[in-house]
Amino acid sequence: MEPILQVKDLHVSFHVKGGEVKAVRGMNFEIGRGETVAIVGESGSGKSVTAQTIMRLIPSPPSDIKSGQIIFQGDDILKKTNKEMEAIRGKDIGMIFQDPMTSLNPTIKVGKQITEVLIKHQKLSSAEAKERGLEMLKLVGIKNPEERFNQYPHEFSGGMRQRVMIAIALACRPALLIADEPTTALDVTIQAQIMDVMKDMQQKLGTSIILITHDLGVVAGMCDRVIVMYAGEVVETGTKWEIFKNPQHPYTKGLLRSMPRLDQKKGEPLIPIIGTPPDLIKPPVGCAFCARCDEAMKVCERINPGATVFSDTQMARCWNLHPMAKEVQSS
Ligand SMILES: Nc1ncnc2c1ncn2[C@@H]1O[C@H](COP(=O)(O)OP(=O)(O)O)[C@@H](O)[C@H]1O
Ligand SMILES: [Mg+2]
Repeated sequence: MEPILQVKDLHVSFHVKGGEVKAVRGMNFEIGRGETVAIVGESGSGKSVTAQTIMRLIPSPPSDIKSGQIIFQGDDILKKTNKEMEAIRGKDIGMIFQDPMTSLNPTIKVGKQITEVLIKHQKLSSAEAKERGLEMLKLVGIKNPEERFNQYPHEFSGGMRQRVMIAIALACRPALLIADEPTTALDVTIQAQIMDVMKDMQQKLGTSIILITHDLGVVAGMCDRVIVMYAGEVVETGTKWEIFKNPQHPYTKGLLRSMPRLDQKKGEPLIPIIGTPPDLIKPPVGCAFCARCDEAMKVCERINPGATVFSDTQMARCWNLHPMAKEVQSS
């Protein structure tokens, strides 16, 4: 599949009083055209920093994009001027965040917030923009769009606001949508509805999606592939079935036991991973998961493992998965 986005050896830090927080430490991944890819990982693993770096929305300072490339439709995002980025954001790359209240402007009517984007990026007349805006509101399942068009964000429920965000994010038919925990702040039933809207829109518009989520039900319901992040690195990637049925990395296995699911049976316990992620001011030289890993060996402390490849689509980084690990352990 032709990639729409390639992230290559991305390093992002934050300069803080105590030193340099190395939040993203050599991220590599690709997103195919029309593909929906989940990024999962515990809180603090660098998912949002990665997403915000792709959008170039990360404030600098305190952030510092140290190195790497983000190739989007053939060009390096990191080489674009701020003005060029403004033309890309909202037009070629759409975004949805956890809390629509902070991304919607409370003082502007919802309809105007959609038409503004269309007028800015697609040079539509205000009549055309209104027509498209109403169509988008209808598409995301907002009833009485004519009436809703003239209301302010506070007149919408949380779920309805998130639908508006989706309508705005997809109004210009972006090639890529980045959704950072889009349903975390919502009730479970509303979460499912919002995911249905996103899936439906994905099918209608063919948008590629990066979906950051804490919910395995969401991954199962709408993603093709999964990227597992830990301490600023990718530790495993695979199709969602490879990750669900045949996870390889000890962290992925632990994470699967700890993450909630939409279809969670009542009383089924979540098992947290014991311990805490490493201090990213002084990240470990070896495997970052080593201190929390039941299977850790001496080498894990000293050298960060490379990728072991399991299929065209699955790889994981763990010394125990290295083809020679069994021989080393038994000798
Ligand atoms: N503005 C900031 N200043 C300092 N450190 C930050 C800042 N934003 C994020 N970080 C650090 O970067 C790391 C990754 O954060 P983040 O990408 O938000 O994690 P996630 O989205 O996976 O929960 C964390 O260790 C966090 O403390
Ligand atoms: Mg986050």
